[in-house]
Amino acid sequence: MERPDNLILVIFGATGDLTARKLIPALYSLKNQDLMPDRFSLIGVGRSELTTEQFREKMAEAIRTFTEEKEPDFSRIDSFLNCFYYRKINYNSARDYAELKLEIEKSCSEKGIAGNIIFYMATPPDVYVTISNSLYLAGLSRESEGYRRFIIEKPFGTDLASAVKLNRTLHELVDEKQIFRIDHYLGKETVQNLLVTRFANGIFEPLWNRNYVHRIEITSAESIGIEGRGEYYDSSGALRDMVQNHLLQMVGLTAMEPPSSLDADAIRNEVLKVFQSLQPIREEDVEKYVVRGQYTGSKIRGEYVPGYREEKNVPEDSRTETYVALKFFVNNWRWGGVPFYVRTGKRLPTRVTEVVVHFKQTPHHLFQRVIGKLAGNQLIIRIQPNEGILLKFDMKEPGAGFKVKNVNMDFHYRDMADVRVPSAYERLLYDVMTGDSTLFSRDDEVETAWKFVEPIQKAWENNPDIKVYGYPA
Ligand code: BG6
Repeated sequence: MERPDNLILVIFGATGDLTARKLIPALYSLKNQDLMPDRFSLIGVGRSELTTEQFREKMAEAIRTFTEEKEPDFSRIDSFLNCFYYRKINYNSARDYAELKLEIEKSCSEKGIAGNIIFYMATPPDVYVTISNSLYLAGLSRESEGYRRFIIEKPFGTDLASAVKLNRTLHELVDEKQIFRIDHYLGKETVQNLLVTRFANGIFEPLWNRNYVHRIEITSAESIGIEGRGEYYDSSGALRDMVQNHLLQMVGLTAMEPPSSLDADAIRNEVLKVFQSLQPIREEDVEKYVVRGQYTGSKIRGEYVPGYREEKNVPEDSRTETYVALKFFVNNWRWGGVPFYVRTGKRLPTRVTEVVVHFKQTPHHLFQRVIGKLAGNQLIIRIQPNEGILLKFDMKEPGAGFKVKNVNMDFHYRDMADVRVPSAYERLLYDVMTGDSTLFSRDDEVETAWKFVEPIQKAWENNPDIKVYGYPA
Protein backbone atom coordinates (compact mmCIF):
# COMPACT_ATOMS: atom_id res chain seq x y z
CA MET A 1 0.00 0.00 0.00
CA GLU A 2 1.27 3.43 -0.90
CA ARG A 3 0.93 6.74 0.81
CA PRO A 4 -1.79 8.90 -0.72
CA ASP A 5 -0.86 12.19 -2.40
CA ASN A 6 -0.76 15.31 -0.25
CA LEU A 7 -4.19 16.64 0.60
CA ILE A 8 -6.43 18.69 2.82
CA LEU A 9 -9.35 17.02 4.58
CA VAL A 10 -12.23 19.23 5.62
CA ILE A 11 -14.66 17.56 8.02
CA PHE A 12 -18.08 19.15 8.45
CA GLY A 13 -19.55 18.03 11.76
CA ALA A 14 -16.11 17.92 13.36
CA THR A 15 -17.38 18.13 16.92
CA GLY A 16 -19.84 15.28 16.41
CA ASP A 17 -19.79 11.71 17.58
CA LEU A 18 -18.76 10.14 14.30
CA THR A 19 -15.66 12.31 13.99
CA ALA A 20 -14.51 11.45 17.51
CA ARG A 21 -15.45 7.78 17.58
CA LYS A 22 -14.55 6.66 14.09
CA LEU A 23 -12.86 9.15 11.79
CA ILE A 24 -10.00 10.53 13.87
CA PRO A 25 -8.97 7.17 15.43
CA ALA A 26 -9.01 5.65 11.92
CA LEU A 27 -6.82 8.44 10.52
CA TYR A 28 -4.44 8.03 13.44
CA SER A 29 -4.15 4.30 12.76
CA LEU A 30 -3.27 5.10 9.16
CA LYS A 31 -0.68 7.56 10.42
CA ASN A 32 0.88 4.86 12.57
CA GLN A 33 1.15 2.59 9.54
CA ASP A 34 2.76 5.41 7.52
CA LEU A 35 -0.24 5.49 5.25
CA MET A 36 -1.08 9.17 5.61
CA PRO A 37 0.14 11.68 3.03
CA ASP A 38 3.52 13.35 3.65
CA ARG A 39 1.80 16.69 3.79
CA PHE A 40 -1.62 16.81 5.27
CA SER A 41 -3.97 19.27 6.97
CA LEU A 42 -7.28 18.58 8.62
CA ILE A 43 -9.73 21.42 9.00
CA GLY A 44 -12.52 20.56 11.38
CA VAL A 45 -15.66 22.58 10.78
CA GLY A 46 -18.61 22.73 13.14
CA ARG A 47 -21.24 24.92 14.71
CA SER A 48 -19.72 24.88 18.19
CA GLU A 49 -17.49 27.64 19.49
CA LEU A 50 -14.07 26.00 19.83
CA THR A 51 -10.45 27.05 19.43
CA THR A 52 -8.00 25.00 17.42
CA GLU A 53 -6.23 24.17 20.67
CA GLN A 54 -9.45 22.86 22.23
CA PHE A 55 -10.24 20.88 19.07
CA ARG A 56 -6.82 19.23 19.18
CA GLU A 57 -7.31 18.32 22.84
CA LYS A 58 -10.70 16.79 22.09
CA MET A 59 -9.28 14.78 19.22
CA ALA A 60 -6.34 13.55 21.32
CA GLU A 61 -8.86 12.32 23.88
CA ALA A 62 -10.90 10.70 21.09
CA ILE A 63 -7.90 8.76 19.83
CA ARG A 64 -7.10 7.50 23.32
CA THR A 65 -10.71 6.54 24.05
CA PHE A 66 -11.88 5.10 20.77
CA THR A 67 -8.83 3.49 19.21
CA GLU A 68 -9.60 0.01 17.93
CA GLU A 69 -5.94 -1.07 18.16
CA LYS A 70 -5.18 -3.95 20.50
CA GLU A 71 -1.84 -2.47 21.48
CA PRO A 72 -2.18 1.20 20.69
CA ASP A 73 0.88 3.41 20.24
CA PHE A 74 0.00 6.94 21.27
CA SER A 75 3.46 8.40 20.84
CA ARG A 76 2.68 10.22 17.59
CA ILE A 77 -0.53 11.90 18.71
CA ASP A 78 1.01 15.34 19.21
CA SER A 79 2.80 15.46 15.90
CA PHE A 80 -0.33 14.15 14.18
CA LEU A 81 -2.60 16.77 15.71
CA ASN A 82 -0.24 19.60 14.80
CA CYS A 83 -1.83 19.74 11.38
CA PHE A 84 -5.40 19.95 12.76
CA TYR A 85 -7.31 23.25 12.70
CA TYR A 86 -10.82 24.23 13.70
CA ARG A 87 -13.32 26.69 12.23
CA LYS A 88 -16.74 27.57 13.55
CA ILE A 89 -19.27 27.89 10.78
CA ASN A 90 -22.84 28.90 10.19
CA TYR A 91 -23.82 26.47 7.46
CA ASN A 92 -25.91 29.13 5.70
CA SER A 93 -23.40 31.95 5.71
CA ALA A 94 -21.66 32.66 2.41
CA ARG A 95 -19.11 34.72 4.31
CA ASP A 96 -18.13 31.73 6.44
CA TYR A 97 -17.46 29.65 3.32
CA ALA A 98 -15.40 32.48 1.82
CA GLU A 99 -13.33 32.46 5.02
CA LEU A 100 -13.05 28.71 4.90
CA LYS A 101 -11.75 29.03 1.37
CA LEU A 102 -9.08 31.48 2.52
CA GLU A 103 -8.08 29.09 5.28
CA ILE A 104 -7.80 26.22 2.82
CA GLU A 105 -5.70 28.34 0.46
CA LYS A 106 -3.48 29.41 3.34
CA SER A 107 -2.99 25.81 4.40
CA CYS A 108 -2.20 24.79 0.83
CA SER A 109 0.44 27.43 0.36
CA GLU A 110 2.00 27.08 3.83
CA LYS A 111 2.28 23.32 3.57
CA GLY A 112 3.01 23.18 -0.14
CA ILE A 113 -0.09 21.06 -0.81
CA ALA A 114 -0.99 21.25 -4.48
CA GLY A 115 -4.74 21.50 -4.01
CA ASN A 116 -6.29 18.08 -3.41
CA ILE A 117 -9.25 18.55 -1.13
CA ILE A 118 -11.64 16.05 0.43
CA PHE A 119 -14.85 17.33 2.01
CA TYR A 120 -16.41 14.95 4.52
CA MET A 121 -20.09 15.46 5.39
CA ALA A 122 -20.35 14.07 8.89
CA THR A 123 -23.25 16.36 9.79
CA PRO A 124 -26.93 15.55 10.14
CA PRO A 125 -28.14 14.83 6.59
CA ASP A 126 -30.46 17.82 6.39
CA VAL A 127 -27.49 20.13 5.79
CA TYR A 128 -25.73 18.09 3.06
CA VAL A 129 -27.40 20.09 0.30
CA THR A 130 -26.73 23.45 1.95
CA ILE A 131 -23.06 22.62 2.44
CA SER A 132 -22.59 21.25 -1.07
CA ASN A 133 -24.29 24.27 -2.62
CA SER A 134 -22.27 26.68 -0.55
CA LEU A 135 -19.01 24.95 -1.44
CA TYR A 136 -19.98 25.23 -5.07
CA LEU A 137 -20.85 28.90 -4.80
CA ALA A 138 -17.60 29.58 -2.96
CA GLY A 139 -15.75 28.00 -5.88
CA LEU A 140 -14.49 25.18 -3.72
CA SER A 141 -15.97 22.24 -5.58
CA ARG A 142 -14.36 22.83 -9.00
CA GLU A 143 -11.37 20.66 -9.76
CA SER A 144 -8.52 22.84 -10.94
CA GLU A 145 -5.07 22.18 -9.51
CA GLY A 146 -6.04 19.04 -7.66
CA TYR A 147 -9.05 16.85 -7.11
CA ARG A 148 -12.15 17.60 -5.06
CA ARG A 149 -13.85 14.61 -3.43
CA PHE A 150 -17.05 14.57 -1.40
CA ILE A 151 -17.67 11.92 1.23
CA ILE A 152 -21.33 11.65 2.11
CA GLU A 153 -22.29 9.81 5.28
CA LYS A 154 -25.39 7.70 5.55
CA PRO A 155 -28.34 8.05 5.66
CA PHE A 156 -28.38 9.00 2.00
CA GLY A 157 -31.92 10.35 1.99
CA THR A 158 -34.88 9.06 3.93
CA ASP A 159 -36.81 7.58 1.02
CA LEU A 160 -36.58 7.21 -2.74
CA ALA A 161 -37.70 10.76 -3.52
CA SER A 162 -35.23 12.40 -1.13
CA ALA A 163 -32.36 10.21 -2.35
CA VAL A 164 -33.15 11.09 -5.97
CA LYS A 165 -33.29 14.76 -5.02
CA LEU A 166 -29.99 14.61 -3.16
CA ASN A 167 -28.31 12.82 -6.07
CA ARG A 168 -29.70 15.37 -8.50
CA THR A 169 -28.46 18.29 -6.43
CA LEU A 170 -25.02 16.78 -6.02
CA HIS A 171 -24.76 16.03 -9.74
CA GLU A 172 -25.52 19.66 -10.57
CA LEU A 173 -22.49 20.61 -8.51
CA VAL A 174 -19.98 17.81 -9.00
CA ASP A 175 -19.35 14.69 -11.03
CA GLU A 176 -20.45 11.24 -9.83
CA LYS A 177 -16.79 10.20 -9.73
CA GLN A 178 -16.14 12.88 -7.10
CA ILE A 179 -18.82 11.49 -4.76
CA PHE A 180 -18.06 8.78 -2.18
CA ARG A 181 -21.21 7.56 -0.41
CA ILE A 182 -20.18 5.78 2.74
CA ASP A 183 -21.68 2.49 3.80
CA HIS A 184 -19.25 1.43 6.47
CA TYR A 185 -20.25 -2.24 6.16
CA LEU A 186 -18.46 -2.30 2.83
CA GLY A 187 -15.30 -1.27 4.67
CA LYS A 188 -15.41 -4.33 6.89
CA GLU A 189 -12.77 -6.91 6.06
CA THR A 190 -15.20 -9.79 6.34
CA VAL A 191 -17.77 -8.18 4.06
CA GLN A 192 -15.06 -7.85 1.42
CA ASN A 193 -14.09 -11.42 2.15
CA LEU A 194 -17.47 -12.45 0.76
CA LEU A 195 -16.06 -11.62 -2.66
CA VAL A 196 -12.88 -13.60 -2.07
CA THR A 197 -14.70 -16.60 -0.60
CA ARG A 198 -17.00 -16.74 -3.58
CA PHE A 199 -14.72 -15.86 -6.44
CA ALA A 200 -11.32 -17.20 -5.39
CA ASN A 201 -12.52 -20.69 -4.49
CA GLY A 202 -13.64 -23.03 -7.21
CA ILE A 203 -15.55 -25.22 -4.77
CA PHE A 204 -18.25 -22.79 -3.66
CA GLU A 205 -19.27 -21.06 -6.85
CA PRO A 206 -20.75 -24.16 -8.57
CA LEU A 207 -23.04 -24.65 -5.57
CA TRP A 208 -23.97 -21.01 -5.22
CA ASN A 209 -27.38 -21.08 -6.88
CA ARG A 210 -30.97 -22.31 -6.71
CA ASN A 211 -29.95 -25.90 -7.50
CA TYR A 212 -28.04 -26.34 -4.25
CA VAL A 213 -29.01 -23.48 -1.96
CA HIS A 214 -32.18 -23.85 0.05
CA ARG A 215 -32.23 -20.37 1.58
CA ILE A 216 -29.99 -17.53 2.62
CA GLU A 217 -30.18 -15.78 5.96
CA ILE A 218 -28.48 -12.48 6.69
CA THR A 219 -28.57 -11.29 10.26
CA SER A 220 -27.24 -8.24 12.00
CA ALA A 221 -28.17 -8.46 15.66
CA GLU A 222 -27.05 -5.81 18.09
CA SER A 223 -27.17 -6.02 21.84
CA ILE A 224 -26.90 -2.24 22.27
CA GLY A 225 -29.93 0.04 22.21
CA ILE A 226 -30.13 3.36 20.42
CA GLU A 227 -27.29 4.88 22.46
CA GLY A 228 -28.80 8.31 23.05
CA ARG A 229 -29.63 8.83 19.36
CA GLY A 230 -33.40 9.02 19.96
CA GLU A 231 -33.98 12.03 17.76
CA TYR A 232 -32.30 10.52 14.72
CA TYR A 233 -33.44 6.96 15.32
CA ASP A 234 -37.08 7.71 15.82
CA SER A 235 -37.33 9.26 12.37
CA SER A 236 -35.37 6.39 10.91
CA GLY A 237 -36.02 2.95 12.41
CA ALA A 238 -34.27 -0.31 11.62
CA LEU A 239 -35.47 -0.49 8.02
CA ARG A 240 -33.86 2.80 7.02
CA ASP A 241 -30.97 2.61 9.46
CA MET A 242 -29.73 -0.89 8.60
CA VAL A 243 -31.69 -2.67 5.87
CA GLN A 244 -31.73 -0.13 3.04
CA ASN A 245 -27.97 0.19 3.19
CA HIS A 246 -25.80 -2.28 5.17
CA LEU A 247 -27.95 -5.38 4.83
CA LEU A 248 -28.88 -4.90 1.20
CA GLN A 249 -25.22 -4.37 0.36
CA MET A 250 -24.52 -7.73 1.98
CA VAL A 251 -27.34 -9.26 -0.07
CA GLY A 252 -25.75 -7.69 -3.15
CA LEU A 253 -22.32 -9.21 -2.50
CA THR A 254 -23.81 -12.59 -1.59
CA ALA A 255 -26.07 -12.83 -4.62
CA MET A 256 -24.13 -11.01 -7.36
CA GLU A 257 -22.71 -12.59 -10.50
CA PRO A 258 -18.92 -12.78 -10.78
CA PRO A 259 -17.67 -9.37 -11.93
CA SER A 260 -15.41 -9.32 -14.96
CA SER A 261 -12.71 -7.48 -13.02
CA LEU A 262 -12.07 -5.82 -9.70
CA ASP A 263 -12.76 -2.47 -11.26
CA ALA A 264 -15.07 -0.32 -9.09
CA ASP A 265 -17.81 -0.18 -11.71
CA ALA A 266 -17.53 -3.84 -12.66
CA ILE A 267 -18.37 -4.78 -9.06
CA ARG A 268 -21.00 -2.11 -8.55
CA ASN A 269 -22.72 -3.01 -11.82
CA GLU A 270 -23.21 -6.55 -10.55
CA VAL A 271 -24.51 -5.39 -7.16
CA LEU A 272 -26.89 -3.04 -8.94
CA LYS A 273 -28.26 -5.92 -11.02
CA VAL A 274 -29.06 -7.81 -7.82
CA PHE A 275 -30.94 -4.79 -6.47
CA GLN A 276 -32.79 -4.51 -9.76
CA SER A 277 -33.74 -8.18 -9.50
CA LEU A 278 -35.23 -7.95 -6.01
CA GLN A 279 -38.83 -8.99 -6.26
CA PRO A 280 -40.78 -5.97 -5.02
CA ILE A 281 -42.81 -6.60 -1.89
CA ARG A 282 -46.15 -5.06 -2.75
CA GLU A 283 -47.71 -2.71 -0.21
CA GLU A 284 -50.60 -5.11 0.33
CA ASP A 285 -48.19 -8.01 0.97
CA VAL A 286 -46.01 -6.25 3.51
CA GLU A 287 -47.72 -7.83 6.48
CA LYS A 288 -47.03 -11.25 5.02
CA TYR A 289 -43.35 -10.75 4.28
CA VAL A 290 -42.15 -8.23 6.83
CA VAL A 291 -42.24 -8.27 10.62
CA ARG A 292 -41.37 -5.31 12.78
CA GLY A 293 -40.78 -5.05 16.50
CA GLN A 294 -39.82 -2.63 19.21
CA TYR A 295 -37.98 -3.39 22.44
CA THR A 296 -39.75 -2.97 25.72
CA GLY A 297 -38.33 -2.36 29.20
CA SER A 298 -36.73 -5.41 30.73
CA LYS A 299 -34.14 -6.61 33.19
CA ILE A 300 -30.73 -7.61 31.91
CA ARG A 301 -28.57 -9.35 34.52
CA GLY A 302 -30.70 -7.88 37.28
CA GLU A 303 -30.60 -4.32 35.96
CA TYR A 304 -33.55 -2.52 34.46
CA VAL A 305 -33.09 -1.53 30.83
CA PRO A 306 -35.57 1.02 29.50
CA GLY A 307 -37.83 0.18 26.62
CA TYR A 308 -37.53 2.08 23.37
CA ARG A 309 -40.43 4.38 24.19
CA GLU A 310 -38.72 5.34 27.44
CA GLU A 311 -35.54 6.43 25.68
CA LYS A 312 -34.66 10.13 25.56
CA ASN A 313 -36.20 12.04 22.61
CA VAL A 314 -38.52 9.17 21.71
CA PRO A 315 -42.29 9.85 21.85
CA GLU A 316 -44.24 7.68 24.29
CA ASP A 317 -46.41 6.36 21.49
CA SER A 318 -43.67 5.87 18.93
CA ARG A 319 -44.24 3.09 16.39
CA THR A 320 -40.70 3.17 15.06
CA GLU A 321 -39.29 -0.33 14.63
CA THR A 322 -36.10 -1.34 16.43
CA TYR A 323 -36.33 -4.78 14.85
CA VAL A 324 -37.23 -5.83 11.36
CA ALA A 325 -37.19 -9.17 9.58
CA LEU A 326 -38.13 -9.72 5.96
CA LYS A 327 -38.38 -12.45 3.41
CA PHE A 328 -37.91 -11.75 -0.26
CA PHE A 329 -36.73 -13.26 -3.52
CA VAL A 330 -34.09 -12.33 -6.04
CA ASN A 331 -35.74 -12.84 -9.38
CA ASN A 332 -33.05 -14.08 -11.70
CA TRP A 333 -31.77 -17.38 -13.09
CA ARG A 334 -29.34 -17.97 -10.27
CA TRP A 335 -31.73 -17.35 -7.40
CA GLY A 336 -35.27 -17.89 -8.69
CA GLY A 337 -37.34 -19.43 -5.86
CA VAL A 338 -34.64 -19.21 -3.16
CA PRO A 339 -35.89 -17.19 -0.19
CA PHE A 340 -33.63 -14.60 1.38
CA TYR A 341 -34.30 -13.83 5.04
CA VAL A 342 -32.86 -10.61 6.37
CA ARG A 343 -33.19 -9.43 9.94
CA THR A 344 -31.73 -6.84 12.22
CA GLY A 345 -32.54 -5.40 15.60
CA LYS A 346 -31.35 -3.61 18.67
CA ARG A 347 -31.27 -4.90 22.25
CA LEU A 348 -31.18 -8.51 21.10
CA PRO A 349 -29.59 -11.20 23.27
CA THR A 350 -26.31 -11.17 21.37
CA ARG A 351 -24.23 -9.17 18.94
CA VAL A 352 -23.64 -10.97 15.71
CA THR A 353 -23.58 -10.20 12.02
CA GLU A 354 -23.45 -13.12 9.65
CA VAL A 355 -24.45 -14.48 6.28
CA VAL A 356 -25.65 -18.07 6.39
CA VAL A 357 -26.01 -20.09 3.21
CA HIS A 358 -28.22 -23.12 3.91
CA PHE A 359 -27.65 -25.84 1.35
CA LYS A 360 -30.35 -28.25 0.27
CA GLN A 361 -30.62 -31.65 1.90
CA THR A 362 -29.35 -34.74 0.11
CA PRO A 363 -32.02 -36.12 -2.25
CA HIS A 364 -32.32 -39.35 -0.31
CA HIS A 365 -32.13 -39.29 3.49
CA LEU A 366 -30.14 -42.43 4.07
CA PHE A 367 -29.43 -41.76 7.71
CA GLN A 368 -32.55 -39.93 8.73
CA ARG A 369 -33.96 -42.88 10.63
CA VAL A 370 -30.94 -42.89 12.93
CA ILE A 371 -30.67 -39.24 13.87
CA GLY A 372 -34.06 -37.81 13.06
CA LYS A 373 -33.88 -34.50 11.21
CA LEU A 374 -30.58 -33.78 9.48
CA ALA A 375 -29.08 -30.40 10.26
CA GLY A 376 -27.72 -30.08 6.73
CA ASN A 377 -24.83 -28.11 5.36
CA GLN A 378 -24.42 -24.48 6.13
CA LEU A 379 -21.72 -22.05 5.19
CA ILE A 380 -21.57 -19.28 7.77
CA ILE A 381 -19.69 -16.13 6.96
CA ARG A 382 -19.20 -14.40 10.26
CA ILE A 383 -18.88 -10.67 9.70
CA GLN A 384 -18.50 -9.79 13.39
CA PRO A 385 -17.51 -10.38 16.13
CA ASN A 386 -15.07 -13.27 16.03
CA GLU A 387 -14.67 -12.78 12.28
CA GLY A 388 -14.28 -15.90 10.23
CA ILE A 389 -15.96 -18.59 8.23
CA LEU A 390 -17.52 -21.87 9.22
CA LEU A 391 -18.77 -24.88 7.30
CA LYS A 392 -21.20 -27.22 9.00
CA PHE A 393 -21.53 -30.76 7.80
CA ASP A 394 -22.51 -34.21 9.01
CA MET A 395 -19.98 -36.82 10.15
CA LYS A 396 -20.29 -40.32 11.41
CA GLU A 397 -19.84 -40.69 15.12
CA PRO A 398 -17.38 -43.50 15.79
CA GLY A 399 -19.02 -46.71 16.91
CA ALA A 400 -21.65 -49.13 15.84
CA GLY A 401 -24.42 -48.17 13.44
CA PHE A 402 -24.65 -44.83 11.65
CA LYS A 403 -24.97 -42.14 14.22
CA VAL A 404 -24.46 -38.86 12.48
CA LYS A 405 -23.26 -35.64 14.09
CA ASN A 406 -23.24 -32.13 12.68
CA VAL A 407 -19.70 -30.73 13.04
CA ASN A 408 -17.91 -27.50 12.15
CA MET A 409 -14.91 -26.79 10.05
CA ASP A 410 -13.92 -23.28 10.86
CA PHE A 411 -11.44 -20.51 10.32
CA HIS A 412 -11.11 -17.43 12.52
CA TYR A 413 -9.19 -14.33 11.54
CA ARG A 414 -7.79 -14.19 15.03
CA ASP A 415 -5.94 -17.47 14.35
CA MET A 416 -3.87 -15.86 11.63
CA ALA A 417 -0.68 -14.86 13.39
CA ASP A 418 0.17 -11.15 13.25
CA VAL A 419 -2.89 -10.25 11.29
CA ARG A 420 -4.47 -7.00 12.16
CA VAL A 421 -8.05 -6.44 10.98
CA PRO A 422 -8.28 -2.75 10.03
CA SER A 423 -11.36 -0.81 11.03
CA ALA A 424 -13.93 -0.15 8.33
CA TYR A 425 -13.37 3.61 8.42
CA GLU A 426 -9.63 3.19 8.13
CA ARG A 427 -10.07 1.24 4.92
CA LEU A 428 -12.68 3.60 3.51
CA LEU A 429 -10.78 6.80 4.32
CA TYR A 430 -7.66 5.35 2.73
CA ASP A 431 -9.66 4.44 -0.37
CA VAL A 432 -11.04 7.96 -0.74
CA MET A 433 -7.55 9.40 -0.35
CA THR A 434 -6.31 7.10 -3.12
CA GLY A 435 -9.41 7.59 -5.26
CA ASP A 436 -10.75 4.03 -5.18
CA SER A 437 -14.54 4.05 -5.18
CA THR A 438 -15.11 0.27 -5.24
CA LEU A 439 -16.42 0.15 -1.69
CA PHE A 440 -18.76 3.12 -2.01
CA SER A 441 -22.36 3.09 -3.12
CA ARG A 442 -23.10 4.52 -6.52
CA ASP A 443 -26.08 6.82 -7.22
CA ASP A 444 -28.10 4.13 -9.02
CA GLU A 445 -27.42 1.52 -6.31
CA VAL A 446 -28.68 3.79 -3.55
CA GLU A 447 -31.81 4.72 -5.47
CA THR A 448 -32.61 1.12 -6.41
CA ALA A 449 -32.21 0.03 -2.79
CA TRP A 450 -34.65 2.75 -1.72
CA LYS A 451 -37.05 1.64 -4.41
CA PHE A 452 -37.17 -1.83 -2.89
CA VAL A 453 -37.71 -0.49 0.62
CA GLU A 454 -40.33 2.08 -0.36
CA PRO A 455 -43.49 -0.09 -0.40
CA ILE A 456 -42.63 -1.28 3.11
CA GLN A 457 -42.28 2.30 4.32
CA LYS A 458 -45.57 3.19 2.62
CA ALA A 459 -47.45 0.22 4.03
CA TRP A 460 -46.32 1.07 7.56
CA GLU A 461 -47.20 4.75 7.09
CA ASN A 462 -50.59 4.12 5.54
CA ASN A 463 -51.73 1.19 7.58
CA PRO A 464 -51.65 1.70 11.35
CA ASP A 465 -53.14 -1.77 11.81
CA ILE A 466 -49.86 -3.43 10.85
CA LYS A 467 -48.54 -4.63 14.17
CA VAL A 468 -45.41 -3.47 15.94
CA TYR A 469 -44.56 -6.43 18.17
CA GLY A 470 -42.98 -5.80 21.53
CA TYR A 471 -39.94 -7.82 22.59
CA PRO A 472 -38.16 -7.50 25.90
CA ALA A 473 -34.78 -5.75 25.73
C1 BG6 B 1 -24.91 2.37 11.82
C2 BG6 B 1 -26.28 2.51 12.40
O1 BG6 B 1 -24.90 2.70 10.46
O2 BG6 B 1 -24.47 1.03 12.00
C3 BG6 B 1 -26.31 2.10 13.85
O3 BG6 B 1 -26.72 3.85 12.27
C4 BG6 B 1 -25.74 0.72 14.02
O4 BG6 B 1 -27.62 2.17 14.38
C5 BG6 B 1 -24.39 0.62 13.33
O5 BG6 B 1 -25.60 0.48 15.41
C6 BG6 B 1 -23.90 -0.81 13.36
O6 BG6 B 1 -22.58 -0.83 12.91
P1 BG6 B 1 -21.57 -1.94 13.41
O7 BG6 B 1 -20.33 -1.65 12.64
O8 BG6 B 1 -21.42 -1.74 14.89
O9 BG6 B 1 -22.20 -3.23 13.07
